[in-house]
Amino acid sequence: MAYWLVILGKLLALILLLSSFLQQQHHFANGEPQVPCFFIFGDSVSDNGNNNNLATTAKSNYQPYGIDFPKGATGRFTNGRNLLDFIAEQLGFLEDSIPPYANASVGSVEKVLKGVNYASGAAGILYESGRTRGDRIPMDKQLINHQNTVSRIINKLGNKNATQLLNKCIYSVAIGSNDYINNYFLPQFYRTSRIYTPSHYAEILLRKLSQQLRSLHMLKARKVVVYGLGLLGCIPYEVRLYGANVSGCVDKINEAVMLFDNGLKSLVSDLNNNLTNATFIFINSTGISLTSSPGSITISNAACCQVSEASAPQCILSGKTCSNRTQYAFWDEAHPSETAYSTTAARAYRALLRTDSYPFDIQRLAQL
Ligand SMILES: *[C@@H]1O[C@H](CO)[C@@H](O)[C@H](O)[C@H]1NC(C)=O
Ligand SMILES: *[C@@H]1O[C@H](CO)[C@@H](O)[C@H](O)[C@H]1NC(C)=O
Ligand SMILES: *[C@@H]1O[C@H](CO)[C@@H](O)[C@H](O)[C@H]1NC(C)=O
Ligand SMILES: *[C@@H]1O[C@H](CO)[C@@H](O)[C@H](O)[C@H]1NC(C)=O
Ligand SMILES: *[C@@H]1O[C@H](CO)[C@@H](O)[C@H](O)[C@H]1NC(C)=O
Ligand SMILES: *[C@@H]1O[C@H](CO)[C@@H](O)[C@H](O)[C@H]1NC(C)=O
Ligand SMILES: *[C@@H]1O[C@H](CO)[C@@H](O)[C@H](O)[C@H]1NC(C)=O
Repeated sequence: MAYWLVILGKLLALILLLSSFLQQQHHFANGEPQVPCFFIFGDSVSDNGNNNNLATTAKSNYQPYGIDFPKGATGRFTNGRNLLDFIAEQLGFLEDSIPPYANASVGSVEKVLKGVNYASGAAGILYESGRTRGDRIPMDKQLINHQNTVSRIINKLGNKNATQLLNKCIYSVAIGSNDYINNYFLPQFYRTSRIYTPSHYAEILLRKLSQQLRSLHMLKARKVVVYGLGLLGCIPYEVRLYGANVSGCVDKINEAVMLFDNGLKSLVSDLNNNLTNATFIFINSTGISLTSSPGSITISNAACCQVSEASAPQCILSGKTCSNRTQYAFWDEAHPSETAYSTTAARAYRALLRTDSYPFDIQRLAQL
């Protein structure tokens, strides 16, 4: 009797296993993304290869970058997937399916129908930010590139169908870090910090970004995710330059960035009130990092890869890496590790706290 019960139990377990396997297969076979396309604007947090052929020191298409990425060093500024890779995955896009503009600007229009990534390391809201690193694609230029993509889609689908498609896509804008790191807080090269108070500078950035987001809206974007800046004063490279306060971070940088973040949230609110049929959401990157449980991360004040005075903030070519990458918040001296990106992305997509996003999270934006 007991024997039969055991067999029955095993059979049941097998059936359950099989059916959940089949369900998963089903899920993947019909794994349509939640929105038809995903367009990405920004800097090194989002870049997936646009700087590879530019004359700049802001490049990452060499080892050990990509050590945990299936295709190796692609031009992503981290060890594995970056923030937007995780968001794209959450939205149901197959891994690595949003091409860099550098690869998708010519050739078949089919390549751009699911979205394009325009992001460029060292790029800022202001044209001149990041200039000391060499060439980069500033936000205004990224929008011009997008205008080219939109024209190609209109040529292919006709205005009506193209508009329908473009209205449904999600647009990601994560930019502004270089306007601080590679401009305001680089006084040996830029005069901005001598001319403007932090609050006046934040206003200038937000006024410019407001125009840029309106241009994106004119290019038919209706669902836009805007990321707040993280705790830039806690970046090991900034601590190296300025020295740490008791917080372990450069307080004046975090304070300046907070003015921008608060203003950005208000800007999102204004745009939602002023632009018809458009939804902008704000992701509170700083709030998410301040309230996330450390998980596997035990080291937040040092880079995992080897960095030299000359290579800083980036890894040295073919340098050593830490023995356990999941324990590090930072991959190099400026960029989060894949582990840190995955935490932020999870809460940007599905908010854990009410303060994580405003007025709601990416999951809800996708459903509109
Ligand atoms: C982009 O193009 C370069 C050069 O042709 C190629 O090496 C790289 O793999 C391409 N990247 C992607 C993501 O297609
Ligand atoms: C636009 O979409 C409709 C409906 O899906 C289709 O019948 C039509 O052929 C499309 N037009 C173009 C120019 O592709
Ligand atoms: C942070 O440190 C700097 C330099 O050591 C110092 O001048 C500044 O007063 C400190 N700021 C705060 C808020 O403690
Ligand atoms: C939205 O409209 C209000 C009132 O017309 C105006 O004061 C504000 O500057 C506008 N905001 C944006 C971001 O356009
Ligand atoms: C807003 O969306 C509705 C429904 O899709 C549409 O009928 C209306 O024309 C849109 N309004 C504007 C100003 O685009
Ligand atoms: C971000 O979140 C923190 C707490 O998680 C909150 O104190 C802060 O006000 C939020 N910032 C913005 C701009 O919403
Ligand atoms: C790396 O660290 C994590 C978290 O502390 C731990 O779970 C994991 O086993 C470690 N991996 C190795 C290879 O030591």
